[in-house]
Amino acid sequence: MSKLDLSDLHVCVLAAGKGTRMRSSLPKVLHPVLGRAMIDHVIQSVELLEPKAVSVVIGHESELVRSTIRQPKNLRWVIQDEQLGTGHAVKQCEQDIEDVSDVLIVCGDTPLLQTETLAFLIAEHRRLQSDVTVLTAKPEHPFGYGRIVRDDLDQVAAIVEEKDATAEQREIREVSSGIYCVRHAVLFDLLHAIDNQNVQGEYYLPDIIPLALKAGQSVEAVVMHDSDEMLGVNDRIQMAYVESLLQRRIVLHWQASGVTIESPDTVRIEDSVTIGADTLIHAGCQLLGSTSIGEQCELGPYAVLKDAKLDDQVMVNAFSHIEQASAATHARIGPYARLRPGVQLHEKVGIGNFVEVKKAVIGAGSKVNHLSYIGDAIMGADCNIGAGTITCNYDGANKHQTIIGDDVFVGSDTQLIAPVKVGDGATIGAGSTITKDVPGDDLTLSKRTGQQHVEGWQRPRKDKS
Ligand code: UD1
Ligand code: CA
Repeated sequence: MSKLDLSDLHVCVLAAGKGTRMRSSLPKVLHPVLGRAMIDHVIQSVELLEPKAVSVVIGHESELVRSTIRQPKNLRWVIQDEQLGTGHAVKQCEQDIEDVSDVLIVCGDTPLLQTETLAFLIAEHRRLQSDVTVLTAKPEHPFGYGRIVRDDLDQVAAIVEEKDATAEQREIREVSSGIYCVRHAVLFDLLHAIDNQNVQGEYYLPDIIPLALKAGQSVEAVVMHDSDEMLGVNDRIQMAYVESLLQRRIVLHWQASGVTIESPDTVRIEDSVTIGADTLIHAGCQLLGSTSIGEQCELGPYAVLKDAKLDDQVMVNAFSHIEQASAATHARIGPYARLRPGVQLHEKVGIGNFVEVKKAVIGAGSKVNHLSYIGDAIMGADCNIGAGTITCNYDGANKHQTIIGDDVFVGSDTQLIAPVKVGDGATIGAGSTITKDVPGDDLTLSKRTGQQHVEGWQRPRKDKS
């Protein structure tokens, strides 16, 4: 499909409802689906159409919604003080819409919706020269959706909500996605004519259909190819299901791009993540936020990466946790390593098990292999930091820095009391407490208390009486 010019399209996103069925103090559209508020997914799909403007109708907890979600430049807020129904919600946009040919109406609770599907609806609406076009679907389970009632000529006659439907109407499999494209010239006259004579006592948007037909306007229904896309989230069961479908879509995308994902049902990969070809992702990994992973990396089981950046050929072993940290090519991390914000590992760095690193630059080829804490530090290249080394960066009030040169060897169980500097080529003996700067090249160590030997000493034995 060639790209449509939609500069004469206005989009209304309906998001004022409380979402009673979520049983939550958080408004429904703010509940996250794969790390992002569900309305944010909808706004992103709509934005990619490049419409003239977008009005988002908010009401329940409107301040919270407004301050939480990302706001693209052509987006405006419309307040619906009382949630009297979807028709009433669209009516609130009347003053906000100017000078367009069509209005696209979408709900804020359908996060799987894709831009191409919306473009298809608008293109069909225009091709058929329709006044009111509704996007429909034939899902496996139509329960809960408005049913599309067609007449003897197979023309759409009405949409009947689940709660208002007869037993016979509930058998209908074709349902409304809640998404409409309507000619601006007719929309608001229709909306002013709807009433609230139904089981829920609401002003239903779908009621514009019989009114349009009565006024001699043309009404069309366009069936979408993939009914999953219109799945609405009304409760937490549907939310989990929709999330699993979105996750599957993302997994398929990366598999098609050359990424191997073992046990794909167990991973969590948010849609903002990027992954290079020939990377191998083991079971249970979570890749979140703006994480980007190079080519030929390997992420061991249950690694969690958030806003992390890995260059090519980085190895992350099982159960490692990396947040706002980066690793250059051939770095090796974990298992059970924790890289906290502000960490930069240069090429071929090795960070081993039970090592925590925070706000530190580790130079190329350096190794911190076992049970250490390195925080607020700058380390040069080719250092070897022995097991149990701690940079004591906090004096109880302030943080201080440890600066280590190139080719430094730090013996096991050393405390570096910051602020402190260690010169290039220095060696620090095991068990040292370093409180002053260490010169380069030589050996520095704490005074040792000597060693005692007690000959013939017996271990206590367990009393058996
Ligand atoms: C709605 C449709 C139904 C369709 C289904 C598709 C109506 C009456 N029903 O049902 O035909 O099959 O969506 O998912 O239109 N909202 C407001 N203000 C209100 C009421 C609702 O902004 O006064 C918003 C909600 O925040 C929500 C959306 O409109 O994002 C849809 O409302 P919801 O209550 O979820 O409608 P459904 O019962 O799912
Ligand atoms: Ca809904």
